[in-house]
Amino acid sequence: MKKFNVGVVGATGMVGQRFLTILENHPWFDVTVVAASARSAGKTYKEAVGAKWVMTTPIPEKVADLVVMNATEDINEIASKVDFVFCAVDMKKDEIKALEEAYAKAECPVVSNNSAHRGTEDVPMVVPELNNNHIEVIPMQRKRLGTKRGFIAVKSNCSLQSYVPALYPLSSYGIKDVLVCTYQAISGAGKTFETWPDMVDNVIPFIGGEEEKSEQEPLKIWGKVEGDAIVNATSPSFTAQCIRVPVSDGHMGAVFVRFENKPSKEEILNVWKNFAGRPQELELPSAPKQFLHYFEEDNMPQTKLQRNLENGMAVSIGRLREDTQYDYKFVCLSHNTLRGAAGGAVLLAELLCAEGYMD
Ligand SMILES: NC(=O)c1ccc[n+]([C@@H]2O[C@H](COP(=O)([O-])OP(=O)(O)OC[C@H]3O[C@@H](n4cnc5c(N)ncnc54)[C@H](OP(=O)(O)O)[C@@H]3O)[C@@H](O)[C@H]2O)c1
Repeated sequence: MKKFNVGVVGATGMVGQRFLTILENHPWFDVTVVAASARSAGKTYKEAVGAKWVMTTPIPEKVADLVVMNATEDINEIASKVDFVFCAVDMKKDEIKALEEAYAKAECPVVSNNSAHRGTEDVPMVVPELNNNHIEVIPMQRKRLGTKRGFIAVKSNCSLQSYVPALYPLSSYGIKDVLVCTYQAISGAGKTFETWPDMVDNVIPFIGGEEEKSEQEPLKIWGKVEGDAIVNATSPSFTAQCIRVPVSDGHMGAVFVRFENKPSKEEILNVWKNFAGRPQELELPSAPKQFLHYFEEDNMPQTKLQRNLENGMAVSIGRLREDTQYDYKFVCLSHNTLRGAAGGAVLLAELLCAEGYMD
């Protein structure tokens, strides 16, 4: 695979820092541009990020002295320097929508962490192991935008990256109803215990907008490309409660599920064990070897023990058992800033490169 020059838009933020860290030694991608707000533009990256650097490893040498570009003012210059950008910015939703379209229209593909375009019908929202075929909508999106290369592709919300991967491979049994409670880490709010001391020894039973995303976004993943859009599925039916817990990284989900044709426990375990998607087939650099890991022990998976499994890109599942009201219940875990944010976006970018969309 040839090397691609990439930009990180929102590079000084929590997700931006994670992008730079995981791209440090990437075999295909070289970070040549970092961009952020006017507050950071013109400074070297290490000056701009300063004490906001929260990764456990130092700022990658290659980016420390790059001069931060202005994410909103320098779009054409950035587009001329890179093959595509990753985008993770904290701005108003309509501003992000306009910003990402501006990059796409400057013929610079955007792989986004932001939620702004997740509902846009011709923007694929991809978990690469599950609905990789949704990238087939990109030519239709290019037609709408009037571009040759430029397009937007997004990853889904971090909350659902634990339970959707566990459920989607069971679709052939006809999933009817899903009830899920998520227990979400504070890094999902861009916070640490230092910056959010109120979270120490505490649980907050509300995360703005999260339950809606957790219930609605799965229907796009189960959707189909029809004509020039992705048409959302109408089932399974999801109901969710999302709770913030005092954990640094790692979102856990407790799932209850009802099927049309109830599989046996052994059938479910077999599906999980044998499941592999397009990233595994293509042996993409960030793909976990085994996407779904099942743990037999009653007290697994545990956030501290399993969140970094396969570089934080695998999903851990445990406690599958029959339920008194639903057919089954189980617990699942995924790393919210790796699989759930920057890592998931890097894997999506690898898929898009391997399938020829970044040529
Ligand atoms: N944290 C997570 O786990 C997570 C997971 C999934 C998705 N997300 C999404 O990813 C995005 C970024 O989240 P985050 O936690 O990384 O936020 P963050 O730490 O607050 O970082 C925000 C970034 O956006 C830049 N920015 C802010 N206002 C801007 C403007 N007007 N123009 C250009 N750049 C601007 C900031 O630059 P300055 O430093 O110059 O201000 C910074 O680089 C959000 O949409 C969030 O919802 C986050």
